Amino acid sequence: GDETSTSASGSAQEPAAPGAGSVKQQISNLVALSLRATVPEVDVEPIVEVCTGKFGDYQCNNAMGLWSKVKGSGTSFKNPNAIGQAIAKNLPACDVIESASVAGPGFVNIVLSKSWVAKRIQDMLVNGITTWAPILPVKRVVLDFSSPNIAKEMHVGHLRSTIIGDTLARMFEFSNVEVLRRNHVGDWGTQFGMLIEFLFEKFPNWEELGSQAIGDLQVFYKASKQRFDEDAEFKDRAQQAVVRLQGGEEKYRAAWKKICEISRNEFDQVYKLLDVQLEEKGESFYNPYIPQVLEKLSSQGLIEESEGARVIFIQGHQIPLIVVKRDGGFNYASTDLAALWYRLNVEKAEWIIYVTDVGQQQHFDMFFKAARMAGWLPDPKEKKFPKTSHVGFGLVLGADGKRFRTRSTEVVRLGDLLDEAKSRSKSELLQRLTENGKIVDWTDEELEQTSKAVGYGAVKYADLKNNRLTNYTFSFDQMLSDKGNTAVYLQYAHARICSIIRKSNMDVEELKVSGNISLAHPDERVLGLYLIRYAEIVEEACTNLLPSVLCEYLYNLSEMFTRFYTNCQVVGSPEEPSRLLLCEATAVVMRQCFQLLGITPVYKL
Ligand code: ARG
Repeated sequence: GDETSTSASGSAQEPAAPGAGSVKQQISNLVALSLRATVPEVDVEPIVEVCTGKFGDYQCNNAMGLWSKVKGSGTSFKNPNAIGQAIAKNLPACDVIESASVAGPGFVNIVLSKSWVAKRIQDMLVNGITTWAPILPVKRVVLDFSSPNIAKEMHVGHLRSTIIGDTLARMFEFSNVEVLRRNHVGDWGTQFGMLIEFLFEKFPNWEELGSQAIGDLQVFYKASKQRFDEDAEFKDRAQQAVVRLQGGEEKYRAAWKKICEISRNEFDQVYKLLDVQLEEKGESFYNPYIPQVLEKLSSQGLIEESEGARVIFIQGHQIPLIVVKRDGGFNYASTDLAALWYRLNVEKAEWIIYVTDVGQQQHFDMFFKAARMAGWLPDPKEKKFPKTSHVGFGLVLGADGKRFRTRSTEVVRLGDLLDEAKSRSKSELLQRLTENGKIVDWTDEELEQTSKAVGYGAVKYADLKNNRLTNYTFSFDQMLSDKGNTAVYLQYAHARICSIIRKSNMDVEELKVSGNISLAHPDERVLGLYLIRYAEIVEEACTNLLPSVLCEYLYNLSEMFTRFYTNCQVVGSPEEPSRLLLCEATAVVMRQCFQLLGITPVYKL
């Protein structure tokens, strides 16, 4: 039929306000209406993608799949192309779509209306970038990231987890999803026995001591480990200390708390430098829940005895998941099961996301499967919530191709790393400003803030821009270069746009309300279209848990801006008001990308 139906029955998606959600989402909504009118007998989800060719901006790829469903069923359609024609014809009349044409076996190429694109940009400039938030199908997410281990090294892997996790959190938060940022610190394990005993031995007055007195916890850890390995009597005491701690004995709890506190102070310094918010709910938090959770799993017949341990056998895995060790103690897996139970049932999260190195993939794979066997999670093929995801990432390598380490220490001191990035970016900035005779325009405070933003941003971006699963080589020279796909290059690109706006004699704030964006030049249109893709990029980065998608967008955007700026005169041209608004919109979107990547944008460089 060619009548346009508007009844939205059978749609799983909640009806959103008109104009809300990403452009892709809005096109999909229009296509959904057309599909319902075109093939009312088939229930099908719209397939909408960005066009790869030049015949449209977005394309609908439903026709071929529909053809295989309806052919031979007495349909009046002769071929997929005819279905495509009908889909194009049945698109509801609206101000979004300029035209639609059909290519080959029914691809519907959709051209967006220039004035609609312009209006969407202008609305964003007036009402803020939050109006470009995508609509995600979840309301509450638990994001388990960073999660270092108390008294052990916080290594580069934890830095990656912190940076990737924070970006994911920011992207979800921007999309109006509530994020429970969880630091699942390793604060509960047998290592505490030796740490506590060592504390008693070395600092008899430990109760009165501040955290400074105990000094570096990693050194403390090493010393106590040495003591543990060398002295059987100490080892004995340490093992008893674990029992007494877990039995809740006051003195042992107090000592444990003290050690955790020292570690926490060290971690917090790093989080402060990185501007990362986290709420600590460590392994110990879930400990009281373990017995009841295992009890439930046991009553479902999932837990078996194996070689003195209690285990869950999981299909596709040779080795079972151990949930109670031979000595009766709980472990990483039992803690994670209890934590998942808590996150699902108490915190009522719909999506639980874990950010760790890929080395832990098997662990996550196994306990996710155990949770599915217990009926906590639906079959992943059904694409339903609640769901769990492991966000794995690769190694950080040094110039020698081996695991990244700094010269002096075995582990990388994160604070030192960030410091070095800052001082390197500062000396480069100083050199450039001196050469250009611009050093006089800068205060010390400005210099300091800018080098910090550029340096820290470079470290974060160098990590985030890669597909997280690949290993990457840590190189200050590369990440601090002002050429290529680096944060420094992007900071310059952004600052340049800000300077164009400053140099114009027009008032952008005033223009936002009174001016008009026109996208007459092809490069203006390309830039405008790319700007309004912002929401669907964030949507994709969230859906696939890939910060690199946002980095790629940011980089492409700056390239498109350069093309526009090269081919379209801004200052002093008749189009200046409209083009300044495009500059401003680009700067706003770039800043928002920086913001989601945890990078502080600079306005002057
Ligand atoms: N503490 C662990 C480590 O350093 C990471 C914890 C990740 N979170 C979890 N729920 N298992 O490897």
